[in-house]
Amino acid sequence: MYRPALILALVLIGGAGSTAAARLDHPSPMPKVAVLMKSVVDRASTDIFNIAGEADPANGADQKLPDVKGWAAVQADAARLRSIALAMQSPSTGKVGEINWMVQSRAMASASAAIEQAAALRAPGALVNAANDLSDTCSACHAVYKKQK
Ligand code: HEC
Repeated sequence: MYRPALILALVLIGGAGSTAAARLDHPSPMPKVAVLMKSVVDRASTDIFNIAGEADPANGADQKLPDVKGWAAVQADAARLRSIALAMQSPSTGKVGEINWMVQSRAMASASAAIEQAAALRAPGALVNAANDLSDTCSACHAVYKKQK
């Protein structure tokens, strides 16, 4: 489910020159989203990315797997990210009428769920894949909705 959604989003971003896309999908201040990003998303995802980076089977002999507490922390952080991704799909917080917004919020929710599952199963390869998917949703959504500095 997740991959086709991402591809769709990229196609839409690629087509942002069209008047419809330019009119519908645009950055504008989103104070509630900014608070969630700053207070939770930034830290939780950084911790997940760091642990996934160390646990990557591609590291070979340098691979460092999380201990019991580490896996539990990944699972709890991913659950936080998933609930924020769901909150962003509510009209009081997110741009629920805009297709890129919904595609990326859903992609963030499913990547977070996949991270929770990988942590529950203690599966480093699945963790790395899901963390990469999560990271793709950050950049894809920001490309459309976050003012570029
Ligand atoms: C569905 C859209 C969406 C997704 C997915 C998303 N963001 Fe954001 N993010 C935003 C928007 C919109 C803003 C700007 C809000 C504002 O300032 O008005 C933002 C702002 C931020 C900020 C700056 C907060 C501040 O004001 O200092 C950080 C950090 C951030 N996001 C991190 C992340 C990370 C990390 C991920 C992925 C794990 C992510 N975001 C996923 C929409 C998204």
